Amino acid sequence: MRQSPLVVVAHRLPIDDSVAPDGACEWRRSPGGLVSALHPLLRDTPATWVGWAGGTGPAPHLPDVDGVRMHSVPLTGDELRDHYEGFANATLWPLYHDAVEHPEYHRRWWEAYQRVNQRFAEAAAEVAEPGGLVWVQDYHLQLVPGLLRELRPDLRIGFFLHVPFPPPELFMQLPRRAELLRGMLGADLVGFQRAQAAHNFAQLAAKVLQLPATDRRIAVGDRVVRIGAFPVSIDTAEMSALAARPEVVDRADRLRQDLGGPEHVILSVDRMDYTKGIEQRLKAYRELLASGDVKVRDTVLIQVAVPSRERVARYQILRDRVEHQVGRINGEFGRVGEPAIHYLTQPFDRAELAALYRIADVMAVTPLRDGMNLVAKEYVAARVDDTGALLLSEFAGAAAELPQAYLVNPHDLEGLKQELLRALRATPEDVAARMRAMRDHLRHNDIHAWAGSYLSALEESGSLLGRRVTA
Ligand code: ADP
Ligand code: F6P
Repeated sequence: MRQSPLVVVAHRLPIDDSVAPDGACEWRRSPGGLVSALHPLLRDTPATWVGWAGGTGPAPHLPDVDGVRMHSVPLTGDELRDHYEGFANATLWPLYHDAVEHPEYHRRWWEAYQRVNQRFAEAAAEVAEPGGLVWVQDYHLQLVPGLLRELRPDLRIGFFLHVPFPPPELFMQLPRRAELLRGMLGADLVGFQRAQAAHNFAQLAAKVLQLPATDRRIAVGDRVVRIGAFPVSIDTAEMSALAARPEVVDRADRLRQDLGGPEHVILSVDRMDYTKGIEQRLKAYRELLASGDVKVRDTVLIQVAVPSRERVARYQILRDRVEHQVGRINGEFGRVGEPAIHYLTQPFDRAELAALYRIADVMAVTPLRDGMNLVAKEYVAARVDDTGALLLSEFAGAAAELPQAYLVNPHDLEGLKQELLRALRATPEDVAARMRAMRDHLRHNDIHAWAGSYLSALEESGSLLGRRVTA
């Protein structure tokens, strides 16, 4: 088995599970923040990505992609159901997102979560070079840092959580809370999207495990685990360059013509997820149509909602409800050839997404809770001429970095309607000043800056060993 100096461990491999007849496979830019964030970083890096390749058969042997080795971990059908759909996406996901849907607890799911985490830890232990660096990603694999440290104490281990980390009042519900915390504390550095999350984690380490903890360091036996906020980002230059390409500009012009040349285009791009606030946003839009504040001929709403986690009951229910709502709104307010909402569930390539971002006068990103929300950042990066208004939920991690957006509380329907109207009616000067400030922020805080700051903190974490932590 060839070994690598850098190993990324994530639930999914970033490639399609179908390999072409000639054995080649392509990077799969699956609709999801994790792959979007890590893909531009790893290209041409001598690294190994450990993850699941899709399907429930034996692990396929995959060729390297763009110089990165793909190491697949097999999952059985029962494990997919109990680990990914169960403990990860029906227990942890809702709990970590303010319990906007009720988290479910089942002992069978926990057993599968442990088993799958053990398998990922063993795979990482196998492919990491002596003294190498292993970077474990996200809530599916919270036990991996601890398990890996037992197998390979020589490694430098990082963990990064892409989703929010909840306040103690919520986390304390988890029947296996101590084990999950101990698992994460197997890392040398535990990274979060926001400082509040690091604070929540430190409080829990003190409360549940009685460890000396500050918002920066936690003492675990003779080790010091460093914790902190590292807000994830995008490849800003890449998205800006893509949006400025002549073929993307042409495509955007054609899209606008196809829409009948409306005065305003509003766009939302989400995974079909109950955390994204899609139902609340559609409700607000319906009320604006009903009151006549927004008129179908002048204003067009494009809602892209790519289906996600489709075998999880809550996601099926959400999709049915959203489609019912869209059908109802189009039935009530659409005209022949002029729907009130253009509803699309297809995955798009990056160029088509960039063209959509280009035509959006207002981008509505209004999740009820979101670790970061890269779509908001992609929109800003694509607005190369400093036009376009970003309507952004206060509950998205991105809001802390982009205070110049039109910020909203998506639970407040009246507030949501008013802020959407404000964004639609804003002067070009106001819009441009806000956009310039946000673009400036993202130019300096891109995905490369994120990886650089995380990895240098991880490098430094070793030098903290032996220092005392005073809580
Ligand atoms: P999450 O991590 O919850 O999925 P993010 O907004 O952080 O949310 O990341 C979503 C990523 O998926 C973005 O990079 C976005 O461009 C991509 N994406 C969303 N919808 C689509 C789609 N229909 N087709 C292709 N990519 C999509
Ligand atoms: O950002 C949270 C996350 O779970 C990522 O791990 C993933 O990229 C994205 O959402 C999409 O989810 P899934 O991998 O379940 O399709």
